[in-house]
Amino acid sequence: MTAAGPTLLVLDDAAQAAAYVGQEVVRTLAQAPATVIGLATGATMRPVHAWLVAAHRRGDVSFAAATSFNLDEYVGLEPQHPCSFAATMRTALFDHADFAPGHIHLLDGGAPDLAAEAERYEAAMGRAGWIGLQLLGIGRNGHIGFNEPGSALESVTRVVSLSPETRAANRAAFGAETVPERALTVGIGTILRASRILLLATGPEKADAVSAAWAGPIRPQCPASALHLHPAACFVCDRQAASAIDQAFWTRSTGR
Ligand code: GLP
Repeated sequence: MTAAGPTLLVLDDAAQAAAYVGQEVVRTLAQAPATVIGLATGATMRPVHAWLVAAHRRGDVSFAAATSFNLDEYVGLEPQHPCSFAATMRTALFDHADFAPGHIHLLDGGAPDLAAEAERYEAAMGRAGWIGLQLLGIGRNGHIGFNEPGSALESVTRVVSLSPETRAANRAAFGAETVPERALTVGIGTILRASRILLLATGPEKADAVSAAWAGPIRPQCPASALHLHPAACFVCDRQAASAIDQAFWTRSTGR
């Protein structure tokens, strides 16, 4: 761990940790309404999306001037497929907030030319000035987005193969359907271009991944360890996800 590395914020439970991330999005948009936000999916992010919808309904936040880019998508799933991250995002957030439709960016898992789709997306992020505030979850194997262990730290948006453990972890969302074997993901190098990064981790099943990422060393086998290369990254954890890290490193917050 380097002195200028990421910070670690530990909140009491998953609800408080999600609320903290939601509040940071609201604060960021209050200061800079046209911020480019990097959005993530996964069970961990569900309460963040719900928190943002509630804040929008209260009139506390508008996304009208913001731009969003989602992190990843399954290959082979059209945006209309109910298990796609595109559909998940519509149901969880976009259908209940005031994002301008032309400002929502999603990878198309059904694109006929996946390499071209990845290139298109990376270029669109560049044109938007890269991400201002990037939200991340973390896989049990330390992945960020769908950058599985072994991904190059300088990787860009591309097609990847999903590991058996990641497919198993995401099986619940697919019911009787087979979990796709490949995905499109924003790269680690692209993620590191963001001005600010908040990685949210909750629950005991993330404790080992969080600890490995936090402790370092920076290595492709633990993609989230790349956050040590970023000047403004924060691990936002509940007590369970931080439980394998020495409490001497914990910064506590009441969640405000
Ligand atoms: C998923 C997503 C990631 C997500 C991570 C954790 O597979 N591709 O973007 O952050 O794995 O997911 P969860 O929050 O469901 O544990």
